[in-house]
Amino acid sequence: MVELAPSILSADFAHLGDQIQFVVEGGATVLHVDVMDGHFVPNITIGPPVVASVRKVTNLPLDVHLMIENPDQYIPAFVDAGADWISVHQEACVHLNRTLELIHSHGVNPGVVINPATPVGSLEEVLDMVHHVLVMSVNPGFGGQKFIPSALDKVRKLALMRTARSANFRIEIDGGITTETIGEAVRAGVEVLVAGNGIFGNGNPIENTRQLLKLAKEATLQRV
Ligand code: DX5
Ligand code: ZN
Repeated sequence: MVELAPSILSADFAHLGDQIQFVVEGGATVLHVDVMDGHFVPNITIGPPVVASVRKVTNLPLDVHLMIENPDQYIPAFVDAGADWISVHQEACVHLNRTLELIHSHGVNPGVVINPATPVGSLEEVLDMVHHVLVMSVNPGFGGQKFIPSALDKVRKLALMRTARSANFRIEIDGGITTETIGEAVRAGVEVLVAGNGIFGNGNPIENTRQLLKLAKEATLQRV
C-alpha cells in the first residue's frame, strides 16, 4: 500500500484548515508536519500550538518530522499536541536509542530520519525499534528543492535490510516528490510519500493530490 503525506509547510498558513480539507478530499491519508528550529536546519517553522490546532480539524495521522536539536526536550509537547508519528534525525540524536524509546513510551509511533549524506547502515541497530524510516531526498530546511536521486539507492538498501531481518518499518521519502519523481520513488520501494510543493505549490491541491496518488498507485504495479 502506498500513502501520500502532504507537507503543510508549503500550504497557505492563513487557510490551513481549508488546505487540509482539500488534501483529504484528494485522498491523502497522512499529514506531514515539518518542525524546524533554526539550529539543526537553517529555517524556523512551526511548533506544538500549530500541531494542536491542526489536530482539531483532522483525524488523519499527524506525521511530525522534527528537524531540531535536543528533540527529547520537546517530544512530550508534540505528543500532547496530538502527534501520531514522531520522527527524529539520526544526525541530531547522540542517544538515538533512548530518544526512540522515549517516543515509544508516549504511545506514539517512532521514526528515524537520515539526511542525504548519512548512510542507511548507520540505522542498523535501530531498525527493529522504528515504525518508519524517513529518507531525505533533499537537504532539509526548505520546501521546493530538487530531488536527490541517490536517495533511491538508500530506499532499495533499506528494503533489503528489512527483509533480511524480518523487520516491519515503513519506508518514507521526503523532498522533491512531484509528478516527475513519484514513480521512481515507489518503484524503489517507498510506501509513504511526502509532498509539499508538488501539492500546494501550483494549481489545485485536490487535483494535485489525486494525480500524485494515481501515479504512485500505478507505479506499485511496476515494482520489481
Ligand atoms: C524539507 C521538509 C520537507 C518539505 C518537502 O526540509 O522536511 O517535508 O516540506 O517539500 P517539497 O515536497 O516541496 O520538497
Ligand atoms: Zn519533512
